[in-house]
Amino acid sequence: MSKQVILTGLRANNDLHIGNYLGALLPIVDMAKTRADDFQVNLMVADLHSFTTPVDHNKLQLQIMDNLRVYVAAGLPLDHEDIRIFRQSYVPAHTELAWILDCFTGMGEMNRMVQFKEKSSLLSEDRISVGLFNYPVLMAADYLLYDASYVPVGDDQTQHLEYGRDIAQRLNNNFGELFVVPKPVKEQHEFFGKDQGLRIKDLAEPSKKMSKSTDSAKGVIFLNDTADAAREKIMSATTDSLGNISYDKEKQPGVANLIDLLALISGRSLDEVRQKYEGQAQYGTFKAEVAEAVAMFLTDFQAELAKVDTSAIEAKLATSEEQMNIQANGTLLKVQRAVGLRA
Ligand code: TYM
Repeated sequence: MSKQVILTGLRANNDLHIGNYLGALLPIVDMAKTRADDFQVNLMVADLHSFTTPVDHNKLQLQIMDNLRVYVAAGLPLDHEDIRIFRQSYVPAHTELAWILDCFTGMGEMNRMVQFKEKSSLLSEDRISVGLFNYPVLMAADYLLYDASYVPVGDDQTQHLEYGRDIAQRLNNNFGELFVVPKPVKEQHEFFGKDQGLRIKDLAEPSKKMSKSTDSAKGVIFLNDTADAAREKIMSATTDSLGNISYDKEKQPGVANLIDLLALISGRSLDEVRQKYEGQAQYGTFKAEVAEAVAMFLTDFQAELAKVDTSAIEAKLATSEEQMNIQANGTLLKVQRAVGLRA
């Protein structure tokens, strides 16, 4: 029997920061390392999804390769037969299936998507793209093409995944078994465990998540920041005037964020870090320790990144993309036949 499939993706729409790294990338790399003996693990750079909101297109190519280099620096093995890395736009079946799914998707379904509402509310009417509107349709095509049972993503993508299950079931009901319907979201969470990251907040505005598309460079530590720049950002992170370190996300979100960050970046448990610092009055000393840990992490990480062999990534992409095209075209042909496009 062939292995069950896991597929996940990350957009390449901005420089990566430590929130992405700790919250999304590292768990994905860990998942790949621990699951690839039992599952086929596909990691996709969602390059087509990367400009559903405006980006600097001169940087896109660089960011795509940088993302892949970061995966490898974070420990992703390139020599495992069942770990594949690929770029979405290198498999044209994604956009073709997306079009077909578009035609079975209701406007109302897409209109209900919270992420669309949130992201479009930040843009002027003429900059809200149709691509942003039907983003979840292309996303569904991404995993339905490969019979993926598991699609590990953050909470912000739950609604998209639910739509993906609906559209798969809808076409299966209309045309017979075309797609493997991904497992229910709850089951997926049980399978992967709730990811611990993604709780990293903006340092300047700790009520908001640290975000790729934020304007506040002060609150975001990018993976390519210098150690000194990172120290400075931590030292000037917003905290509070209570004068008592406590892990209280409601009342002291800034301090709680720094505790989370320290635990994740130093690989220590949250309890251990809390025990060490809670009750102390000196924020300066605490911040200096967080700053040092982050600076050390960045220095080590950047050294790893410099060692990454780009030609090995290119070779792996070429192999994986060939495999993905074969698999994707097989599914696409079944769908084309079902809807009457092929004999
Ligand atoms: P991207 O690059 O925006 O996000 C990458 C991962 O980070 C998670 N994430 C969050 N999780 C919880 N809370 C947040 N505030 C938060 N911000 C980001 C995302 O859930 C994601 O897991 N739609 C995907 C890209 C994609 C994809 C796919 C994923 C395109 N096609 C097919 C899986 C399968 C995304 O959000 O990328």
